[in-house]
Amino acid sequence: MTTVSQSDLRRAAKLLRAGKLVAFPTETVYGLGANALSAEAVQRIFEAKGRPRTSPLIVHIAVLEDVHKVVSEWPEAAQRLAEEFWPGPLTLVLPKQAAVPDIVTAGLKTVGVRMPSHPVALALLKECGLPLAAPSANRFAQLSPTTAEHVRRSLGDRVDFVLDGGPCAVGIESTVLSLVGTPTLLRPGGISREQLEEVIGPVAVASGVTEGPHASPGMHAKHYSPRTRLLLSKIGEVPHAGRGVYLRIARDPEDGCDVRQMPTNPQEYAQAIYGTLHDLDAARYDWIAVEHPPVTSAWEAVVDRLRRAAH
Ligand code: TXA
Ligand code: MG
Repeated sequence: MTTVSQSDLRRAAKLLRAGKLVAFPTETVYGLGANALSAEAVQRIFEAKGRPRTSPLIVHIAVLEDVHKVVSEWPEAAQRLAEEFWPGPLTLVLPKQAAVPDIVTAGLKTVGVRMPSHPVALALLKECGLPLAAPSANRFAQLSPTTAEHVRRSLGDRVDFVLDGGPCAVGIESTVLSLVGTPTLLRPGGISREQLEEVIGPVAVASGVTEGPHASPGMHAKHYSPRTRLLLSKIGEVPHAGRGVYLRIARDPEDGCDVRQMPTNPQEYAQAIYGTLHDLDAARYDWIAVEHPPVTSAWEAVVDRLRRAAH
């Protein structure tokens, strides 16, 4: 793993304490961080991303005790999930503390919180001593960033500082689970539904998680998209006009288009997908066709992101 210098960490922490924006690596994707307890600082996130105010943000913490700065209830199920999966790619939605400004939660009485596992994220959170609100560090509805270079290309000087911790290991965003009422999956991600169910029993799936828009506020159907037209397709559906590229898992594409072999394992595929789409976008194809992955729960998060990218 690429690590960052102590002086960069100190500089980043100082900027955050002054209400500025710092992009930092997490194990899922890069986050665009600001002091979660300052409405003014958090407002800058929305401006930098061009993100609608109706999309709530995730708050990041480094130590379990700090969860009480963010949430007002901490049920048994949350404790068990945190013990099992934190630090890691799981966001829990719970009733919020009064100290969390409304702008963070888009006016909701609940807040999403997670403890990331990337050592640079943890070091930054500890160094600045603040819970950090951080959405993915990209302009709204664009591809999520999995390298510091992706962040710089998308946000430019809209971000005050970028900590470069190398490429992200998980590669797609955290799983979002609501623990308000029946445990409900709001966004599939780095931790699978099976893994959650092993710890807390049955997990409901919000309508729209696997199809269509708006599982949770801010889960827009069109999201995580490359600029190039993306088709999630069977081979026969690949258009023949223009110059295209086919992302293959197993099957052979039709003749006449470039081919990218993708990993056949869902974790490795997830790790590679945003970087691949960033590269192919830059290569200015007319279209990108993606072989539909297997419709199994292991592929749920990848299929969710591909469907949104193809919308
Ligand atoms: O992996 C991740 O979660 C990354 C890294 C940076 O931590 N962050 C991320 O943030 O993906 P963002 O803002 O791109 O996505 C936040 C997701 C959205 O789907 C939003 O709807 C959901 O979390 N969310 C946040 N707070 C919520 C709440 N109170 N109720 C329901 N959904 C919420
Ligand atoms: Mg995002």
